[in-house]
Amino acid sequence: MMEVVTLGCEEEAVLKGTATLISDIDEKIESFAHAMIESMIESDGIGLAGPQVNFPKRIFVTKAPGDEARIFINPEIIQTSMDVGGYEEGCLSVPGVYAEVMRPLSITIQAWNEKGKPFRLDADGILARVIQHEYDHLKGVLFIDHLNDKKRQRVLKIYNRRNGR
Ligand code: NI
Repeated sequence: MMEVVTLGCEEEAVLKGTATLISDIDEKIESFAHAMIESMIESDGIGLAGPQVNFPKRIFVTKAPGDEARIFINPEIIQTSMDVGGYEEGCLSVPGVYAEVMRPLSITIQAWNEKGKPFRLDADGILARVIQHEYDHLKGVLFIDHLNDKKRQRVLKIYNRRNGR
């Protein structure tokens, strides 16, 4: 199982950087993506992005409730709905804390799969939510960064206390 980088740990800088394009979708990337899916499921996560496993490349995987496991390589969100809504989010990199985040309710994303085949996907519900959360990780953005200062400080305080800091 891959080790997940968490906020406050030694490698935390990788969570705040910008992920770079994957130039070759080869067998190594394919097996890496499958290992990410395994780690995500073992950790009871519904999404996992490259930077979270110290691999700062544009890749993430999802397994939303009731959905199949999905792999997104070099993704671009190309459309978001005007309608936004709130939902309680958590993150394997900020374990143990949750907060409501407002996001567009539906999106269109294009990406490549692990075989190097491009695809486009319209998503709503939890899948749209997870995709946007993971997509943020590729830009060095965590769900807590969407909160206002006061709320963010409160969540961080709880997180740090839980982790004995
Ligand atoms: Ni996350």
